[in-house]
Amino acid sequence: MTAPPIVPLNEEHAVVAAKLHQNGIETGFLSSLGQSFLKQLYIAIPLCDCGFGYAWQEPDGEILGFIACAESTGRLYKQALRRRGIWMAMPLMRYLLHPSVLRRMWHTWRYPSQVGEDLPAAEVLSIAVSSEARGKGVGKALMQAALAEFAQRGINKVKVAVWEGNEAANSFYKRCGFELALPHKHHGLPMNIYTIIELADVLLGTKTR
Ligand SMILES: CC(C)(COP(=O)(O)OP(=O)(O)OC[C@H]1O[C@@H](n2cnc3c(N)ncnc32)[C@H](O)[C@@H]1OP(=O)(O)O)[C@@H](O)C(=O)NCCC(=O)NCCS
Repeated sequence: MTAPPIVPLNEEHAVVAAKLHQNGIETGFLSSLGQSFLKQLYIAIPLCDCGFGYAWQEPDGEILGFIACAESTGRLYKQALRRRGIWMAMPLMRYLLHPSVLRRMWHTWRYPSQVGEDLPAAEVLSIAVSSEARGKGVGKALMQAALAEFAQRGINKVKVAVWEGNEAANSFYKRCGFELALPHKHHGLPMNIYTIIELADVLLGTKTR
């Protein structure tokens, strides 16, 4: 069997990752900030020590999906701001006079410290596969690459937050070995937070559904 064409996320993938994010994760607050901001976010993530991601890139260069992760979301936001703050701020200037958007940005910034101290700091921030490529194992292969990277970084516990109404993603995370930890409200949306607390077991295949 040939290995899936999975490569580390880098600056060249940022435009497509932004597009896949906005098209695939429609209910997310980050999607509402626009593709220019998302592009800057996806340039920044792999530049940070505690951030990484992977893309599924076909031999002709087409990107079918990506995943982005953080060892600690709070730390990642701080590192991203230090490294690319000006670039990330520029697409957000138009929101300066929109208090409700500023309030939601503040909540997003504070979210890592609010979801519960018992939850893992490490997080799958986003995953999206192009609509034409879904259901063919692309998402799972990206998740397996990301979980292996977490393990390589010495991390054994990971979380992910997903909108309760996103049935595909809720099923997907369970199929990837995550278990529901707690429901949580974020920007007024009901979210489910899933965790893996024994990553080694999931990677060994002793804990998948
Ligand atoms: C969630 C998503 C990434 C899954 O990617 P995918 O490539 O279609 O998933 P895969 O084909 O690798 O499926 C992996 C497993 O999840 C299950 N799964 C995937 N989509 C599913 C669906 N719509 N309903 C039920 N189960 C599903 C598969 O059955 C499979 O299970 P198996 O391992 O037992 O065979 C994809 O649907 C997507 O991009 N959605 C839009 C973006 C999004 O919602 N992201 C998550 C929010 S952050």
